[in-house]
Amino acid sequence: MKVAVLGAAGGIGQALSLLLKTQLPAGSELSLYDVAPVVPGVAVDLSHIPTDVKVQGFGKDDLTDALKGCDVVLIPAGVPRKPGMDRSDLFNINAGIVRNLVDAIADTCPEACIGIITNPVNTTVAIAAEALKKKGVYNKNKLFGVTTLDVIRAETFVAELKGLSPEAVHVPVIGGHSGTTILPLLSQVDGVQFTDEEVASLTTRIQNAGTEVVEAKAGGGSATLSMGQAAARFCLSLVDAMNGQNVVEYTYVETNSDDAEFFAHPVRLGPAGVEEILPYGELSAFEQKAKDDMLEGLRGDIKLGQDFVNG
Ligand code: NAI
Repeated sequence: MKVAVLGAAGGIGQALSLLLKTQLPAGSELSLYDVAPVVPGVAVDLSHIPTDVKVQGFGKDDLTDALKGCDVVLIPAGVPRKPGMDRSDLFNINAGIVRNLVDAIADTCPEACIGIITNPVNTTVAIAAEALKKKGVYNKNKLFGVTTLDVIRAETFVAELKGLSPEAVHVPVIGGHSGTTILPLLSQVDGVQFTDEEVASLTTRIQNAGTEVVEAKAGGGSATLSMGQAAARFCLSLVDAMNGQNVVEYTYVETNSDDAEFFAHPVRLGPAGVEEILPYGELSAFEQKAKDDMLEGLRGDIKLGQDFVNG
């Protein structure tokens, strides 16, 4: 299995690459690409860790070489938020970065599964889909918005509140990846009861958790370590599924539902990416209203991405 990380010298890229170097199955290859001149050094640094995962670094002009033969490509390239910004403020810079990287994937490894981490994910995934369509290689089963961070945050916060072991808590999170489009389904957490006040405050905390990190980092960026962990979990699940294991993750994919063209669902992963988009089940009245209220915004985010590519 060959995995590329595009934006590998950044905060997420380095954390993610470290986790993949230590956790990908033996015999895998890791291809690290970034426009920052430090990327060959990141690769050399990681290559000294004694695991059977081969690491290679590729600089600015070597994107094609970085992508050759890749099965999975993860994209955390682009600028992160600073205090006072929301994810849509990143659109102007990150839209073009994602478009160019996805064009190169279409030309070099069109069969690869692509995980988009770069924000605003609600929009950058739609940009990637349209860019792939223009190249005639779009496969909706192989394009994912990585929303795993919302899931691990929800699990952590629920465990904290209820005094449970975080490993034992599973919280479905559907929708998109910004503000109110992030919809945790607390009514579906097995064996845990919440008061209405707890549901309201936990939902808001999960939706604003990214801002909690941005403010605490005080201008130094957004979540990188927890995001590295989340992206590694997603990638390792995908690799396991591509190797024949039965794995379900929540991820933002193209759906046929009436909600929105892209929507995070529980997804059964398989050798060719999405095996089956599973239903997210029954919503509580609170969740149904939250979903109804956010759909227009999410659809607008998606259209912005489609218009970016199609003019
Ligand atoms: P960072 O600034 O630390 O790293 C970004 C890296 O991308 C830098 O090394 C930069 O040189 C590189 N880069 C810029 N343009 C590039 C290009 N054209 N090709 C290759 N590399 C390029 O930023 P950080 O903190 O790693 O965040 C990256 C992105 O991930 C941001 O857009 C951020 O908003 C997003 N993010 C997404 C989350 C999610 O849940 N999906 C969570 C947290 C952040």
